Amino acid sequence: MKNLVILISGRGSNMEAIVRACAHDAWPAKIAAVIANRPDAAGLAFAASHGIATAVVDHRQYPERAAFDAALAQTIDGYAPDLVVLAGFMRVLTEGFVDHYSGRMLNIHPSLLPSFPGLKTHQQALDAGCRVHGATVHFVTSRLDHGPIVAQSAVPVRAGDDAAALAARVLATEHVIYPRAVRWFVEGRVTLDGAHVTLTPPEPQWLFLDDTNAHANTQTAGEGV
Ligand code: GAR
Repeated sequence: MKNLVILISGRGSNMEAIVRACAHDAWPAKIAAVIANRPDAAGLAFAASHGIATAVVDHRQYPERAAFDAALAQTIDGYAPDLVVLAGFMRVLTEGFVDHYSGRMLNIHPSLLPSFPGLKTHQQALDAGCRVHGATVHFVTSRLDHGPIVAQSAVPVRAGDDAAALAARVLATEHVIYPRAVRWFVEGRVTLDGAHVTLTPPEPQWLFLDDTNAHANTQTAGEGV
């Protein structure tokens, strides 16, 4: 049985997807705690209502990043996690913190890394004229939004998309690939080899949400290629 600790900052829909998958598919894992850096993180209520321990380490109470990270690590380690899952945890982490959880901390980022690290990824993809966009589950390294890739999802960018429409399309795929990737880890199937992640036995580490045909069917005949 593996212990998981999930960190959130807000809505927590990825955390919810992981909690539901863990229960529904009877993973050999326990969600030991959900920890937020904001007392008003909406996802805390969902976790508590599902009998999961919750904690808040409010970053505003710590004048320095290192002090916050030390307090956060102390709280996390109280739950003896095998894996720390960052699920919309919007804090830049210190090198010491990241090193402490080396090889046992995952993040999901809403872009096809290494494109578009940082914030406003959907607008960045639109501004760059991307035809494909997506999300990445990766091991956390001290470089922001960078690290060995466990899984990626890709979705089409459609004419007329704004950042919100694109974000919603990507988020639906996040809720598929993140539980899948965490489960792979829980099952001991993930091997890290430098920048590369392999899965034993292998299975696709990608998801393409290709709804082009469905879309084309709603358009005038003859459109598209
Ligand atoms: C998700 O889209 C996640 O990929 C993103 O924040 C959102 C959190 O939603 N994470 C980042 O941007 C991290 N760099 P959620 O709270 O509903 O899971």
